[in-house]
Amino acid sequence: MKKIESEAATFRTLDWGKTDTSKFPNMVTPAPGPQSKTWHDRCTKYFKGLSGQVKLFPVTFESGEACVLRDVDGNEYIDFSSGIYVTTLGHCHPKISEAIAKAAHTLMNAHDFTTPVKTELMEKLADILPGDLNGFQLYDSGTTAVEAGMRVMRAATGKNEMISCFNDYHGKTYGAVSLGHIRSNVYGRVRAPGAHMVPRPDAYRPMWTKPDGTIDTDAYLTFYEAYLDKGTVGDVAGFVLEPIQGWGGSVMPPDDFFPKLRKFCDQRGLLLMIDEVLTSWGRTGKFLCMEHWDVVPDIVTIGKGFGNGFPVTCVAVREPFKESFEAISASSSYGGNPMACAAALISTKIIEEEKLNEWATHLGQVALKRMNEMKAVHPIIGDVRAKGCLMGIELVKDRATKEPFDKAGAEIYQKAFAKGLAWIPAGHILRMSPPIVMDEKTILKGLDIIDESIGEVEKAHGYT
Ligand SMILES: Cc1ncc(COP(=O)(O)O)c(C=O)c1O
Repeated sequence: MKKIESEAATFRTLDWGKTDTSKFPNMVTPAPGPQSKTWHDRCTKYFKGLSGQVKLFPVTFESGEACVLRDVDGNEYIDFSSGIYVTTLGHCHPKISEAIAKAAHTLMNAHDFTTPVKTELMEKLADILPGDLNGFQLYDSGTTAVEAGMRVMRAATGKNEMISCFNDYHGKTYGAVSLGHIRSNVYGRVRAPGAHMVPRPDAYRPMWTKPDGTIDTDAYLTFYEAYLDKGTVGDVAGFVLEPIQGWGGSVMPPDDFFPKLRKFCDQRGLLLMIDEVLTSWGRTGKFLCMEHWDVVPDIVTIGKGFGNGFPVTCVAVREPFKESFEAISASSSYGGNPMACAAALISTKIIEEEKLNEWATHLGQVALKRMNEMKAVHPIIGDVRAKGCLMGIELVKDRATKEPFDKAGAEIYQKAFAKGLAWIPAGHILRMSPPIVMDEKTILKGLDIIDESIGEVEKAHGYT
């Protein structure tokens, strides 16, 4: 791999906030360039089913280091995507690459037999997770972890129905997809029996408000009460939710929602399963996003940044539900293999040792301040939000009607990408998930690129 020679590509371990980012992005040819196109055409002759992210900007990446990505034409981009919320500690962190390589040279797979590295990971997880979350199983993707969590839920309660929320996303296998926003082409055209969807509070687009116009969280819980009674067959195991909706567009709940939902579940004997595949391991400035609200879920899924690129996910359950793993035949071919455990263990240690949760929180505050300045000058920005390095900008055609501005979203994504910002589109909501090892100047530079791109698109649509 060609090394990206620059100070900006150094890790925070080496340089806390003193990096010279003036060199990035470094675009040497209009992107996607000729080499990108050639590779992409060769590859996609066979590789089918691309995400919107790639379709809108079909570049071919060759290498990455820390917060910088390089394409095959030599263009260097600031990374505001972390793959897809995955490389939270940046690309090719030397300690992580070394740990995975060491495991790969020692033992690659021993099914679910005990290994020293798995033992260390188990102890580390039990140590850092809140409350009595101390029963674990490991998987190789987010959706398989979600499915296992759902099976634990059924085993623990003997009940079948589950309640999730509008616009949640939990993966693409049948159980998980049934608890998310679903289109007929995604899976089998029908939801799994027993899967229910209810609205969840979105402060920017509230369904119920108090007389002063602020969101009325209690009204949502009142609705859930009625729904349990009238909308289900009375066989509900519990709720399955994202803490912050990632795919849905970095949609944050009001601070009182999860504490109230926890109480609601406790009073009705329902389990609370939280899907933290996207929000965990430093992404929002905590190991679990639920720690922001001091809520301990009964079951929680962990993924993406957990292995910082190595496919490893986890289902963690509270003490009373540990034995339910036995009931569900929990093991899998790749779950907890030594390379996966090594990646998760070292990623966890790095976050702890380098105080990266604190740094992610700081970056989120810096970004939110800058995004609010952008909102003050751009009429098409309806809302901005950030928790740690999970960020979103919601685009509207008109602030009064809040009509989503999808076309602008796609155009801004493409313009910013061409200027050297690798990131994630989501219709009218611009999603950002920079690595949490990024320095302050680079975060601001990425936002400058977005600011400029929004300005150009506004102009093209006659707003200025
Ligand atoms: C909250 C959440 N759950 C589950 C998944 C599915 O993870 P995977 O793509 O690894 O199956 C995702 C993926 O984006 C996610 O964001």
